[in-house]
Amino acid sequence: MEIRLAKSYGFCFGVKRAIKIAEESPNSVTFGPLIHNKNEIQRLKDSYNVGLVEDVKDVAPKSRVVIRTHGIPKPLLAELRQKDVEVIDATCPFVTKPQEIVERMSEEGYSVVIFGDKNHPEIKGVMSYAKDPVVVLSVEELKGKPLKERVATVAQTTRKFEEYQKIVNYLMQHKKEVRVFNTICNATFENQDAARELSQKADVMIVIGGKNSSNTKQLFNICKENCSDSYLIENAKELKKEWFDGKKLCGITAGASTPNWIIEEVIENIKKFKV
Ligand code: F3S
Repeated sequence: MEIRLAKSYGFCFGVKRAIKIAEESPNSVTFGPLIHNKNEIQRLKDSYNVGLVEDVKDVAPKSRVVIRTHGIPKPLLAELRQKDVEVIDATCPFVTKPQEIVERMSEEGYSVVIFGDKNHPEIKGVMSYAKDPVVVLSVEELKGKPLKERVATVAQTTRKFEEYQKIVNYLMQHKKEVRVFNTICNATFENQDAARELSQKADVMIVIGGKNSSNTKQLFNICKENCSDSYLIENAKELKKEWFDGKKLCGITAGASTPNWIIEEVIENIKKFKV
């Protein structure tokens, strides 16, 4: 069986940057999980003593606090900055951007529509910069929401462009002024396009990434559409030999928070099955 990696996979720019910042900040803590990957978070703990806190009250005085890739809500950041701690911001610049946009647009008197999942940490952060934002995942949800005639809209970085367009079209049809900001991140597209291409040829697809990672789930859905034998795993231990029996081409892709060492381990373990 041939094992082939997608042309683009794994760590994006923002995650590489955040990990580098964490590695350069030993004996610190991250505020919330730095990235959506438990194994990498454990490696940072083991190799650099980078811990994790989830609550401001658990942050010890004089500690160094690394802000995670997805950012945190503005009031929390303000609370941290007031404490006697060093704040090191590893928020991806592509996440800082929509935060800045919604803050400015709110100040200028626009209603803010955020296309994204209100339970996702990135969106919780972005929402906190806007005044009374409307957060939706579909046009249906948007219908009937009280909005001014001047509307500004941003999207969660990992959302599909086509879906965002539906929101934008609806707003254009119903409002006098619509400011559209394309805040969707290219890194996600590149991995998705490559996964689509490979899954059309593969007999079995392995998608490696955090099961709570939104971009990994999207990669998995794309692969599943094209290749019914697609599996989402977090690490090599979850592999099963029978997935590969009788297969000729095994495609591999990985979410934007998946480190290379996990991908290599998965490939080595598939090779050991000797199918
Ligand atoms: Fe940033 Fe895009 Fe990655 S928003 S964290 S570079 S997927």
